[in-house]
Amino acid sequence: MQVSFIGTGLMGSPMAERLLKAGHEVYVYNRTLEKTVPLKQKGAKVALTAHEARHLGEAVFLMLSDAVAVNEMLFPTDEEEKFTGQTVIQMSTISPDESRAVAEKIITAGGDYLEAPVLGSIPQATEGKLVVMVGAQEKLYEKWHTLLEAFGPAPIHIGEVGKAAAMKLALNQLIASLTSAFSLSLGMIMKEGIEVEQFMNVLRNSALYAKTFDVKLNYMLKNDFSSVNFPAKHLLKDVRLTLDEAKSLGLETVMLEAVQEILKKTVAMGSSDMDYSVLFNAVTNRKV
Ligand SMILES: NC(=O)c1ccc[n+]([C@@H]2O[C@H](COP(=O)([O-])OP(=O)(O)OC[C@H]3O[C@@H](n4cnc5c(N)ncnc54)[C@H](OP(=O)(O)O)[C@@H]3O)[C@@H](O)[C@H]2O)c1
Repeated sequence: MQVSFIGTGLMGSPMAERLLKAGHEVYVYNRTLEKTVPLKQKGAKVALTAHEARHLGEAVFLMLSDAVAVNEMLFPTDEEEKFTGQTVIQMSTISPDESRAVAEKIITAGGDYLEAPVLGSIPQATEGKLVVMVGAQEKLYEKWHTLLEAFGPAPIHIGEVGKAAAMKLALNQLIASLTSAFSLSLGMIMKEGIEVEQFMNVLRNSALYAKTFDVKLNYMLKNDFSSVNFPAKHLLKDVRLTLDEAKSLGLETVMLEAVQEILKKTVAMGSSDMDYSVLFNAVTNRKV
């Protein structure tokens, strides 16, 4: 199948590579052209403009920072874009409202739309083990299920457009909240002069343990967040989106507002492009 993939950043590059490995003809586009070079060497065709990429694929994938970027790439001018016979598969993390608004514009322009945000990071993207959550009409999910299996073994149909976006936000607020909570406990242990391994052993054998604690522990102990899976700036974006969504649902958001403050402080400390676990430094008032 001829497909296009717009946004070959940290996640987009290994995801586009999965499509190549599955035998598809892949046209890639990225605002910063250099990031497409490794994919070209692996057999991708490079589109030089977003317009070209938008109209070359039967399916058009997007893996971009946010909804602003998604809209800029799909609808760059006020002129009417046509997507007749094409399907847009939007995989960036955006809010349910943002996703529904994009869906409406694509449908008006004659195309089909699926949202398919993912859980997992660069290692899972590289291995094709992402959890792909689909928000779309059932018939579109059925139609595109096999293509989506390039990214993860069992794409899940969550419901109509907006539902997968909401599920993704519900999961990502756990990344931010759990890491913030763990950072405070670990910070206390270190400042109290208690052995970290002793604390971890108790934690690992308790119901409070989450695997992510051990995954991020070494980054925190070594004060090295340069191996970036998920940048802090994108986690802050996701927390902002979750706050808006949770407020609109009438939920108490005071806890998440505090987490947002921690992430804002992280970004203000100059760590926006580092792995999000650098929020530990904002909690413990330590510099990288
Ligand atoms: N990293 C993860 O673990 C992870 C996991 C699940 C979901 N996500 C989500 O996946 C999406 C991509 O994340 P990532 O980690 O791959 O981030 P990233 O490396 O920062 O990539 C962002 C991409 O968006 C492009 N972009 C940003 N603003 C743009 C604009 N105004 N116009 C055109 N292109 C623009 C960037 O182009 P340039 O290269 O030119 O800047 C780049 O291709 C985000 O929504 C993120 O929340 C990330």
